[in-house]
Amino acid sequence: MKLALLLSLLGVAAANYEPTWDSIDSRPLPEWFDEAKIGIFVHWGVFSVPGFGSEWFWKHWQDDLKQNKTSPYTKLMAENYRPGFAYHDFGTEFTAELFDPDKWAELFHNAGAKYVVLTSKHHDGFTLWPSKYSFGWNSKDIGSHRDLVGELADSVRQYTDMRFGLYHSLYEWFNPLWLQDKENNLTTQEFALGKILPEMKELVEAYKPEIVWSDGEWEAPDTYWNSTHFLAWLYNDSPVRETVLVNDRWGSDTHGKHGGFFNWADKFNPGVLLEHKWENAMSLDRNSWGYRRTIQVSEVYTVQELIKEIVETVSCGGNILINVGPTKEGTIIPIFQERLLQLGNWLKINGDAIYSSKPWTFQNETEQAGVWYTQREGYVYASVLQWPENDLLVLHRPQVGPNNQILILGAGDASIVKWHAIDDRIDVTLPRMSRVSAPWPWVLKLTDVTN
Ligand SMILES: *[C@@H]1O[C@H](CO)[C@@H](O)[C@H](O)[C@H]1NC(C)=O
Ligand SMILES: *[C@@H]1O[C@H](CO)[C@@H](O)[C@H](O)[C@H]1NC(C)=O
Ligand SMILES: *[C@@H]1O[C@H](CO)[C@@H](O)[C@H](O)[C@H]1NC(C)=O
Ligand SMILES: *[C@@H]1O[C@H](CO)[C@@H](O)[C@H](O)[C@H]1NC(C)=O
Repeated sequence: MKLALLLSLLGVAAANYEPTWDSIDSRPLPEWFDEAKIGIFVHWGVFSVPGFGSEWFWKHWQDDLKQNKTSPYTKLMAENYRPGFAYHDFGTEFTAELFDPDKWAELFHNAGAKYVVLTSKHHDGFTLWPSKYSFGWNSKDIGSHRDLVGELADSVRQYTDMRFGLYHSLYEWFNPLWLQDKENNLTTQEFALGKILPEMKELVEAYKPEIVWSDGEWEAPDTYWNSTHFLAWLYNDSPVRETVLVNDRWGSDTHGKHGGFFNWADKFNPGVLLEHKWENAMSLDRNSWGYRRTIQVSEVYTVQELIKEIVETVSCGGNILINVGPTKEGTIIPIFQERLLQLGNWLKINGDAIYSSKPWTFQNETEQAGVWYTQREGYVYASVLQWPENDLLVLHRPQVGPNNQILILGAGDASIVKWHAIDDRIDVTLPRMSRVSAPWPWVLKLTDVTN
């Protein structure tokens, strides 16, 4: 038997995707992603040095200068930095001297995350790895003098079972090659073909990310970025062709249409079941993805709000990517640590309702606010985000037989709750909150077996 035939009978024939969206979109999504549900997003870069406004600091500052506008950005710079201080000078201050990648990996793991996505390069063009396409403007040449992408990749893989992914921005606000292509009305592709494509290949070959999370696509169509050519290479010939996933930001016309899972817009949470796999990318700091020195407690998601976001997302078929912005020194501020660890504690008890779950027939209750469903291995899980009136929950009825029980996850002896069925509904009487040790919000586990 010919080797190729043997391999194809074994189902391991080399894939052969064409550089067209029809072909790229026909690739099945590797299953690990839907099972993982929860990822950590890390926005880290030179923008963490001013740590002011957001990761868009450079752009806002420059736009305000150009318009002769006095703004918080221009004031901060005029009042605290020598004349002529440039954004590039922040690069040498991106020192990361307290960055301990093992600690980050441990924290993200303890948060209950199953994957990590780091900004390898944001819109300022600074690479967190020693890219030969970003000479002098990367973390090895200046500032920390370290390969930050490589160090985090190693720790995540060595000490946890999390997958490692990379965010990458296609456009760079002030890259002269990009500005020139734009001036040419994108009839030239010096930047896309001469810088971006080889840079992305370098990144994939060096660090083998299992997610390529693309961004900064919106000012040019996917044909300018040659996105389908990159993706055909990624799926056919790259070292991660078996397990990699990508998102949907590959050109001004692709989001919600093409690629792997769909991010749609930032912080997307539709509240209804979607056919296509999607991901809600959100940030613990409501006002920024990058670190802000002025952050206030009130601007940070509470753990209740975070769990609500997760439960709604997963019930509707999504994954969630929870962002933290580390400091320029490489530390993660305690309020983010606390939030992630609180989440981890909740997931330790309630993870069966989240990981590897599937959407159920119903996603949430209409009459009973704050009840969201998932299912897994013959059980239906109802997350209860809001205490019901008279302690009485009215739920959709899974196929619960007379001998079946409804449990509160993590409640020990108090875990069995009283219920009775009325037609296609069940009435569940919740025990007094003080008698149950499970962390709020509670998750009810309903057997889905008729007997
Ligand atoms: C800003 O000020 C400079 C110098 O006074 C002037 O030349 C320029 O036209 C101004 N730009 C705008 C957008 O007003
Ligand atoms: C780009 O388009 C603008 C507006 O249509 C036009 O004025 C300009 O000449 C074009 N530039 C090039 C280099 O084609
Ligand atoms: C870019 O796209 C064009 C048009 O589809 C194709 O001819 C060319 O080979 C591509 N180049 C690369 C480097 O992918
Ligand atoms: C689910 O919840 C949303 C938001 O709370 C609500 O608007 C919607 O009506 C609910 N959907 C169903 C099917 O109950």
